[in-house]
Amino acid sequence: MRFNQVSIQKVQQFWDKRPCNIRHSTAPIGTRKYFNEVEERKYFVEPHIPSFAEFKRWKDKKVLEIGCGIGTDTINFARAGVKVTAVEISRKSLIIAKKRAQVFKLGKKIKFYLANAEELSKTVPTQSYDLIYSFGTIHHTPNPTKAISEIKKYMNKNSILKLMVYHRYSWKVLWILLKYGRGKFWQLDQLVADNSEAATGSPVSYIYSKYQARKLLSGFKILETKVDHIFPYRVPEYIKYEYKKVWYFRCLPKSLFRWLEAHFGWHLLITAKLSKI
Ligand SMILES: C[S@@+](CC[C@H](N)C(=O)[O-])C[C@H]1O[C@@H](n2cnc3c(N)ncnc32)[C@H](O)[C@@H]1O
Repeated sequence: MRFNQVSIQKVQQFWDKRPCNIRHSTAPIGTRKYFNEVEERKYFVEPHIPSFAEFKRWKDKKVLEIGCGIGTDTINFARAGVKVTAVEISRKSLIIAKKRAQVFKLGKKIKFYLANAEELSKTVPTQSYDLIYSFGTIHHTPNPTKAISEIKKYMNKNSILKLMVYHRYSWKVLWILLKYGRGKFWQLDQLVADNSEAATGSPVSYIYSKYQARKLLSGFKILETKVDHIFPYRVPEYIKYEYKKVWYFRCLPKSLFRWLEAHFGWHLLITAKLSKI
């Protein structure tokens, strides 16, 4: 089935079954220890996130986060003194994100909405935000173009959009193609959706070249595009919370690894603003 024909309920069910990063800690879910460990692991494995989000830059400003998951970035915006509105389609993820806000006594800083990014304005009152932040979400919705059209309703000429979508020309895509697809490039999109997440069988996972991302963001002026993130660890150890790199990344000089990440990383990090109002 083509991704744009997948129902939003399927997407919701997938992320409800296993919210993103929910196994980043073995402590009881909802405890302070759990949330601290989730954050530690997330930013250890994806260290480019804090510099992309620039949490402190948005102090006293309004941020709309789309697809907040269990709220790791959400809580860091709130900690930095940001007024956050966080949106999620997965009820289970949202419950955990809300609990996190409660545990860290930041509930007053964050408004949570259970909503579909493609129909955002049906649920979330339209007003301008200083930043629209969406990390790893838009590529999981069946019609990303609709989500982008909705996002525009929350932006004025000064608003910034920070978006992470999956990068088509990445090490990870090549690895999935060879490991799971035995080179069947004509099945690439399905292979990636099936194998790119912690749980297999994501119903929707688009992958974008820089050109495709620019097309998705028509009506925007792209301020910056960066590529980052290669996961270098061995999975059998990683799921036991041990960090052992695969042999070829162990052999690679750090500078070369960083070069690879900057060109063939899995995350396409885009900063943009509206080009015309
Ligand atoms: C890969 S996770 C990323 C979560 C979070 N941004 C993070 O970095 O931890 C993708 C998230 O997008 C959410 N999502 C997918 N489609 C959505 C939609 N149409 N509206 C709102 N959230 C959506 C999923 O429920 C999931 O929590």
